[in-house]
Amino acid sequence: MCGIVGYIGSRNAADVLIDGLRRLEYRGYDSAGIAAQNGAGIHIEKRAGRIDALAEALRARPLFGTAGIAHTRWATHGAPTDANAHPHTDCAGRISVVHNGIVENFQELKRELAQAGHRFRSETDSEVLAHLIEEAWGRTGDPLEAVRAALGRVRGSYAVAVLFEAHPGLLIAARRESPLVVGLGDGEYLVASDAPAVVPHTREILVLDDGELARIDRTGVRLFDMRGNEVEKRPLRVDWDPEEAEKGGFEHFMIKEIHEQPAALRRALAGRIAPEENGAGSPAALRVDLAEAGWSAEAIRAFRKVYLVACGTAHHAGLVGKRLLEAATDLDVAAELASEFRYGEPRVGPAALVIAVSQSGETADTLAAVKEAKLRGARVLAVTNVVGSSLARAADYVLYTHAGPEIAVASTKAYLTQLACLGLVALYVGRVRGTLSKERERELAAALERLPALVEQVIRAVEPKARELARRWQDARDLFYIGRGLDYAVAREGQLKVKEIAYVHAEALAAGELKHGTLALIEEGVPVVALATQRPLVDKTLSNIQEVAARGGDVVALALEDCPRREALEETAREVWYLPAVPAELAPVLAAVPLQLFAYHMAKARGLDVDKPRNLAKSVTVE
Ligand code: G6P
Repeated sequence: MCGIVGYIGSRNAADVLIDGLRRLEYRGYDSAGIAAQNGAGIHIEKRAGRIDALAEALRARPLFGTAGIAHTRWATHGAPTDANAHPHTDCAGRISVVHNGIVENFQELKRELAQAGHRFRSETDSEVLAHLIEEAWGRTGDPLEAVRAALGRVRGSYAVAVLFEAHPGLLIAARRESPLVVGLGDGEYLVASDAPAVVPHTREILVLDDGELARIDRTGVRLFDMRGNEVEKRPLRVDWDPEEAEKGGFEHFMIKEIHEQPAALRRALAGRIAPEENGAGSPAALRVDLAEAGWSAEAIRAFRKVYLVACGTAHHAGLVGKRLLEAATDLDVAAELASEFRYGEPRVGPAALVIAVSQSGETADTLAAVKEAKLRGARVLAVTNVVGSSLARAADYVLYTHAGPEIAVASTKAYLTQLACLGLVALYVGRVRGTLSKERERELAAALERLPALVEQVIRAVEPKARELARRWQDARDLFYIGRGLDYAVAREGQLKVKEIAYVHAEALAAGELKHGTLALIEEGVPVVALATQRPLVDKTLSNIQEVAARGGDVVALALEDCPRREALEETAREVWYLPAVPAELAPVLAAVPLQLFAYHMAKARGLDVDKPRNLAKSVTVE
């Protein structure tokens, strides 16, 4: 967890760094700090609390200097206090370090360093890095060598940025299992945990690989491996619009990102659905092409089993993906929680395709599952939003979701683009394996293309209702979400949204399971969201809604406009919200939107910090 930023150039570093920290605040937000270097040395300001607390302190006591490093923290070792905030320094205060990751052997190292006379000021694992570098620098006198030698002693994960008082205008950075990019500006350079902190200044980035170090001064960047050999690397161009990483008139990132979903979906589908080569006369039909992922038709035909591994919202996308792949192919498909994947003795071997779904591409549990799958010989397809992320680099095949930067902790546009991409994967794999009829492929491809416009329509139609419902249910103690088949998968995402940002206990149930226990909790006025978008299952779901209504449950139902039992549904539920008619497989993309909007307005009605819910972080890089 945590976000780091560094700057070397001709502007005042603290200004650039504070702005960068705000853009990385989603990575952690319990304390923050900055070190700035000028001719007179390195000066540090750090504070427990949000970045605003640090900005306030800097207004009273500005830091000057054209080089600097900064950090926003999500505590893993040691409470969120001023002393535990980064940057950390060596004994003499001549070396400053910011760190994202976990030094797993920090207790051994700390003991050893303390015996050698080092004095520690914090309870963090990160502080040992400053002292290890101090030791090595004393021996070698060379900053790059010192960082390299120090990191050589570390077990665990790190992205670090280091300043040396004796070497003004020099920044050393390195990574292992925590992300780090270097931004190449005009006479200035940035390092950051993630691209949003860099894109306002430059679109050219170098993505560091595990075990690489960067030596950065105002004349340029040189990369080295852990053996000290220089590494050549071509920069990538990030095509994000920096505006997208700002709120642009919306009150919160989450609502902005909900409204960005049509555009995000358009990007996710762009270039992946094309008119078929057709003979003269007939209108061009659509077909899906995902050859860009780097997999051959031969490889796709050889798979026998698919595992979708992911965490949180991405796992909920995986649950939908499982049904889509089962419908379009002859493959056995399992959707697994990445954090549990390794414990169940999965029969993963060379005939398995593991589809790892992750917005950030940095979730530790997902990366660990991928590592395990690769060890067992499986092929890995990454479905991720972040170009050059650890997941993208670990995978054999990559499909980017192109949702653009997602800043709110609660995932919305990333989820919708994951659903669209998994839909594309199902169609493509089905076609290549010959298990999907041409007609079905055309019908679903055409329906996929309509989704961006339909999502726009749903947002417009549903937002006022969601706001109203949030007012009505704002004091609820529990919420229940029920549905069958794909509706159950979407219900799981709906209940997570409301728990994570509105802090209301919520539970999703396969509608048929209600009667096996949870129905005992339904009494007068208990709020229930019932999803009934799956045409063949509507009859059965309707019976479950009746069971709830008969016990006084306050039911809001979601159905497609062409729902077979409209009248009965309207008689039973207190409200029915209709969604445009689409093939049932794609209904999750529309059904998720009202649930996102409701959760957002619920959190707002309850006066909560929508974008930064307590105890959570956007990118969870610890297991
Ligand atoms: C965190 C976030 C969730 C996200 C999950 C997986 O818990 O708060 O919103 O779904 O991580 O993240 P990923 O980046 O792998 O999709």
